[in-house]
Amino acid sequence: MEPKGKVIVVTGASSGIGLASARALAREGARVVLAARSMAALSRESDRIVREGGSAVAVEMDVTSDASVGAAVASILERLGRIDVVINNAGNGGRLSLWESTDGAFTRAMFDVHVFGMERVTRAVLPAMLAQGSGTVVNIASTVAWVPMPSAAAYCAAKAAVVAFSESLRGELEGRGVRVTVFAPPHTSTAAGDDWPLEGPQVFAPEWVAEQLVETLRRDRRSFLAGASNRSLLVLQRIAPGLASRIMKDIGLRAGAKSAGRMRGADEAAMRPSTRP
Ligand SMILES: NC(=O)c1ccc[n+]([C@@H]2O[C@H](COP(=O)([O-])OP(=O)(O)OC[C@H]3O[C@@H](n4cnc5c(N)ncnc54)[C@H](OP(=O)(O)O)[C@@H]3O)[C@@H](O)[C@H]2O)c1
Repeated sequence: MEPKGKVIVVTGASSGIGLASARALAREGARVVLAARSMAALSRESDRIVREGGSAVAVEMDVTSDASVGAAVASILERLGRIDVVINNAGNGGRLSLWESTDGAFTRAMFDVHVFGMERVTRAVLPAMLAQGSGTVVNIASTVAWVPMPSAAAYCAAKAAVVAFSESLRGELEGRGVRVTVFAPPHTSTAAGDDWPLEGPQVFAPEWVAEQLVETLRRDRRSFLAGASNRSLLVLQRIAPGLASRIMKDIGLRAGAKSAGRMRGADEAAMRPSTRP
């Protein structure tokens, strides 16, 4: 699928991978819709794309709200007439910590944005795609959907649900013109990515990840894990699952301990008396 001329909605486009993807797609000639909650950031970034010669509009959308998603999709269809691609990217990494030190609200919030948010947006755009007889739903997963990691149980479970949902929906939509693609970024330097102090995995720039996403769309891939080391990890998990789990256990527990240290440091700094007059 060539992005040129296509109406492409990117959720979570106010920063990170979503913003870099919207910018990359606009450079390819797509008519991009930047959607997220922070309207000021979205307007600033869509204006920048337009100043650079691209086509972009900003739409406020909270993927955890039926009303917000419904209103946003209705407004996109009214303004642009169609939706060719939706990239369900909105999300967050949450803090890394042992599952037993989190509560149910934390897990539910993780599922609310990653799983139910993706499901809600897909449900809202699908009728237009089916009526057009064409469309692509891109769901953003993560390597940890296939190779889970301690200290991130809720996130890993949510991303695994995104993958299973996508594979299932793809089968239902085959032959009806709508494709479903799963794209897994590697560890990327964004607000969410920088919250995970992982030792070992290479950290990629959001712009590089965005180029991989554009290529995934262009090649009509069903599923793509960006980053060679992530693909190697998946192969290792298939041929030596015990070894892959040990590697992930080591990475996850170390990062979780580091994250807990950061939190303690931030709490202590907040409790220190201010030196300002
Ligand atoms: N960074 C990584 O290492 C990495 C690796 C694998 C997968 N991923 C996945 O890649 C995606 C993008 O993450 P990122 O690293 O680019 O994070 P990011 O820089 O923190 O950006 C997250 C985006 O999601 C939006 N968002 C959050 N909650 C939302 C909601 N309820 N409704 C609408 N938008 C919402 C945020 O905008 P507002 O706050 O303005 O709403 C923001 O634009 C996520 O799905 C993440 O799980 C990231």
